[in-house]
Amino acid sequence: MTKRIGILTGGGDAPGLNAVIRATVLAAENQYGWTVVGLREGFDGLLAGLPTITLSSQNVHELLARGGTILGAANRGNPFSRPVYSEHGEIVEYVDVSHEAIDALHQLELEALIVAGGDGTLSIAQRLVDMGAPIVGVPKTIDNDLAGTDFTFGFNTAVKTATEALEKLQTTAESHHRVMVLEVMGRNAGWIALMAGLAGGADAILLPEIPFRIGIVCEKIRALKSAGRHYSLIVVAEGAAPEDGEQQFYIRGATESQSKLGGIGHRVGEAIGECVDAEVRVTVLGHVQRGGQPNATDRYLATMFGATAVELVAQEKWGYMAALEGGEITHVPIREAVNMKFVDPESHMVKVARSLGVVFG
Ligand code: F6P
Repeated sequence: MTKRIGILTGGGDAPGLNAVIRATVLAAENQYGWTVVGLREGFDGLLAGLPTITLSSQNVHELLARGGTILGAANRGNPFSRPVYSEHGEIVEYVDVSHEAIDALHQLELEALIVAGGDGTLSIAQRLVDMGAPIVGVPKTIDNDLAGTDFTFGFNTAVKTATEALEKLQTTAESHHRVMVLEVMGRNAGWIALMAGLAGGADAILLPEIPFRIGIVCEKIRALKSAGRHYSLIVVAEGAAPEDGEQQFYIRGATESQSKLGGIGHRVGEAIGECVDAEVRVTVLGHVQRGGQPNATDRYLATMFGATAVELVAQEKWGYMAALEGGEITHVPIREAVNMKFVDPESHMVKVARSLGVVFG
């Protein structure tokens, strides 16, 4: 029987979102003869009644390698907590308009909705499933902080970008005998910092999961210098904090998701400058980690996840999402998967890094 299904991308973008869109359209059309419509600007667009985009194999072919999302993504749209503004533009209260989201799905005559998102977007999807909405999920985030899947797409590309940045910093650090500090994204999880740090040969990796002591980092820099290496590379996750200090935010919003981590790289750089006799420079990598083409791993993962989501719709497995477990593509309940996944300070990866002489502060 012919179905009309929708797809929506929510939260921050990640390399591979367009590949997911392409895969869902191709699988739905080729395998089942279904029509796929794209909902624009995440749940915000659904609530605002934005016109949808009809997708077909004719208009998704170019999407495999394209960064971002052609559907747009909104970080703010939560139908369970929509801000109401005063005439002065201040938020006066938050209201639950989830019934409007359900009504909007009915009006669009969608028999299923595929939601590609991180923990915030997928949590909203789960609550809508609890209200009876036929939704399946695709896990997305460069942070790789979602439990329930070994990897999210977008992460591998972000790690590659951060690793390339370290490689570039290494040659200029070596030329000038400098200490280079690189701040990377990841929110409260240190996956990007840890993997890029290992892949890019960092001397110190500072993670949110391991509160650091700057003295340890300075000792490492001095030890390298005494051994004849006059430069060092330090990777700092944006969510890292010193043992006796706090996380740094460059935007403080009304809610946790509206607050933006950032600034710890400069704090670390200043502190190193005070305890080591060397020039220190700080690079904040920022959104280049999210932009641009997905690499081959992320195109593959996004494609597999998109096609799996279509299978979940065919099986009416509402409330499930595509996942990667032990190298196999599978599916897991969204409810379990939206818990956060952090770096275990006792993990093999951290132990290997320590065995190579990397310090965590
Ligand atoms: O969750 C992805 C992410 O890029 C985080 O690593 C980062 O903290 C945040 O989003 C940045 O959000 P925004 O794009 O709203 O600045």
